[in-house]
Amino acid sequence: MGAPEIRRVGVVGLGAMGAGIAQLAVEAGYETVGREVSDELGGKAYDRIAHFLQRKVDKGQMAAGERESALALLATTTDVSDLARCDLVIEAIVEDLDAKLELFRELESIVRPDAILATNTSALSVTEIAAAVSTPERVVGMHFFNPAPLMPLVEIVRAERSSDDAVEAAFEVGSRMGKKPIRCHDTPGFVVNRVLIPLLNDCLRVLDEARVTPEDLDTAMTAGAGWPMGPCTLVDLVGIDVHVHASEALYEKLREPRMAPPPRIVAMKNAGLLGRKSGRGFYTYE
Ligand SMILES: NC(=O)c1ccc[n+]([C@@H]2O[C@H](COP(=O)([O-])OP(=O)(O)OC[C@H]3O[C@@H](n4cnc5c(N)ncnc54)[C@H](O)[C@@H]3O)[C@@H](O)[C@H]2O)c1
Repeated sequence: MGAPEIRRVGVVGLGAMGAGIAQLAVEAGYETVGREVSDELGGKAYDRIAHFLQRKVDKGQMAAGERESALALLATTTDVSDLARCDLVIEAIVEDLDAKLELFRELESIVRPDAILATNTSALSVTEIAAAVSTPERVVGMHFFNPAPLMPLVEIVRAERSSDDAVEAAFEVGSRMGKKPIRCHDTPGFVVNRVLIPLLNDCLRVLDEARVTPEDLDTAMTAGAGWPMGPCTLVDLVGIDVHVHASEALYEKLREPRMAPPPRIVAMKNAGLLGRKSGRGFYTYE
């Protein structure tokens, strides 16, 4: 399969990740169609992107005219068939395999045969998602990090049957969006989460084993290991629920005890102590 030149990008799901990805796409000059389940959610995502671009203008990172040009490239829709002319569609809907399989089947029936289909899944198998369509060669992972406009990395994930052309086209798009893309194969957690999730779980177990406070653990890892942010601060930022979910997903796939979420953090999740977003996690936020 020869990959098409990417001019039009579709983003399905304009939540935390999808809206950020759509912002990156229009900033990179791609005509972009974002699909949500309701006009209200599509409108909210559009407004959020317009707001973030305005902040860039206010900070002197972007000219007002560039913001207008970027926004002129963005359309939102609830109709999947509006993605028909896209050369690349990036899926960022809920982390649910059945929902993603259904969407990929629908997308395959709508887009051109050579259009690339990418998933932003964190914990599902890209190969399993690709198996939903009759042309799995065109399916790759494009795993952005949260918040997508700010985090430089994107993991370009090769599934078992991804074509070289599809992988390279996704890599190019990641570069043009100003990201630092890396190539990897489809394994649980890909690269960053495969390393980071068990490492953070080790840190959280040390809280109890060494009877150290969250503040002192954070100081230990920033001042002693050169981490830019301590593990408790990081987990609060990521969200306790998100970290527990990612740990459980990796544990389910790999059965390595280090992947399992420590009981202390599961209890925090169940108690609604979700970190920064709920106002309290390891720390309390205003
Ligand atoms: N949040 C993170 O830190 C993060 C990081 C990397 C990857 N991811 C992955 O990105 C994906 C999205 O995560 P999120 O945090 O943005 O979720 P989110 O809940 O913020 O957004 C998902 C959006 O998808 C919409 N949606 C659901 N089904 C849809 C459909 N069929 N068509 C169009 N829109 C649909 C929902 O209305 C919602 O707005 C997941 O696969 C997740 O694993 C998340």
